[in-house]
Amino acid sequence: MQKLHIEGGRPLFGHVPISGAKNAALPALAATLLTADTVRLRRLPNVVDIRTMTTLLQNIGSAVKRSPDSCEFVAKGDLDPVAPYDLVKTMRASSLVLGPLAGRCGRARVSLPGGCAIGSRPIDMHLAGLRSLGATIRQDRGYIEALAPRGGLVGGRIHFRRPTVTGTEDLLMAATLAKGESVLGNAAREPEVVDLANLLIKMGARIRGAGTSTIRVEGVAELGGADHAIIPDRIETGTYMVAAAISGGDLTLDGAQPEHVQPVIRKMRSAGCEVETPDATTITVANGRPLISVDVTTREHPGFPTDMQAQFMALMTQCEGESTVHETVFENRFMHALELQRMGAAITIDGSFANVRGKTRLSGTDVMASDLRASACLVLAGLAAEGRTVVHRIYHLQRGYERLADKLQAVGANIRVVD
Ligand code: EPZ
Repeated sequence: MQKLHIEGGRPLFGHVPISGAKNAALPALAATLLTADTVRLRRLPNVVDIRTMTTLLQNIGSAVKRSPDSCEFVAKGDLDPVAPYDLVKTMRASSLVLGPLAGRCGRARVSLPGGCAIGSRPIDMHLAGLRSLGATIRQDRGYIEALAPRGGLVGGRIHFRRPTVTGTEDLLMAATLAKGESVLGNAAREPEVVDLANLLIKMGARIRGAGTSTIRVEGVAELGGADHAIIPDRIETGTYMVAAAISGGDLTLDGAQPEHVQPVIRKMRSAGCEVETPDATTITVANGRPLISVDVTTREHPGFPTDMQAQFMALMTQCEGESTVHETVFENRFMHALELQRMGAAITIDGSFANVRGKTRLSGTDVMASDLRASACLVLAGLAAEGRTVVHRIYHLQRGYERLADKLQAVGANIRVVD
């Protein structure tokens, strides 16, 4: 199994290109099921999750044509509206095909995604939303079966008990082909939801309010093709911002979208980082005065993203003072803290709160990745640690970070993948 070897203590300097957002690309891929016309997607990140979703689309019946800077998807003819266990078990975001298949084919059979390291991750809100659009839902031997009424889904009112990103995306897609108007209340406001809505509107969908808590959709009989570039990855952006700060270097992130990372920019400035946005697609991060600890609470967008919590915790180990990290989105997202402790970090956990006392000297050692963002956290800690850090189970990283080792090597990190 591949591992990452990192020799720490080297400040990073130079430019890092930001890739397309995995969490915008996944719903965009699912959206290609909504039409028999050609959908061309650009800036798809070359990561495992995107390859998994592409395989799922092909299994369903989509034709996929790759070219150097884009990929074309054509879902026409008889589609097989099934997401099998062997694919869903490797990527829970496969549930994103539930809404499009129910809307386009009138039925869907999707393996129930299990939980994962960060929590039980139920999809009850996805299912309740489909019922609100007239679907009948039943569970059969580990699969969810959704069946639309004979005439297709019917517009309805959906209210999420708490914002759900893929729940909002799933039902937004289903609603585009439902008869009549649908209203999604307490909807997620993430930039990835807005990017999906922009794609759907290009395909002919009639959507208002994406990016706010209330999204209105007027169903249409069918959708057409589109050509769409995926937004830059705001979590990858934040990850490299922390890489600059934790290594004591100075990085320029190119092809970013600063307005999508404002919560992270604000927090890093509070910690003493010099963060500038010289233009609409560039962020620079340098170290000014010695870093100081700041508290952080994760929230749904536009709050501080839970997907940046682990990375930020790594940074807090290198700041003077005490930091309280409060995780409010997932119930078990401190696995990385246990590994940071093994490197020498002073962290105590109390339920959904972690207390980080800095600045502590980190020592390189063998550490185990448990999920995508925890893996990134351990790489960042390895950049600051003395000696060699070996990150095991880096398949987690490869799911969502495009060429991470290459990008870090290019700015001076001593990091390599070892079989
Ligand atoms: C999306 O997951 C992201 N994944 C996650 O990124 C991200 O951490 C999360 O949103 C929160 O921002 C993709 O976009 C592919 P949620 P999602 O539904 O949609 C509970 C990464 O590292 N909930 O917004 O699955 C849920 O358990 C990944 O890239 C229900 O109870 O998250 C959680 O506590 C990790 N019932 C909360 O809501 C439901 O039906 C928010 O989850 C759905 C969710």
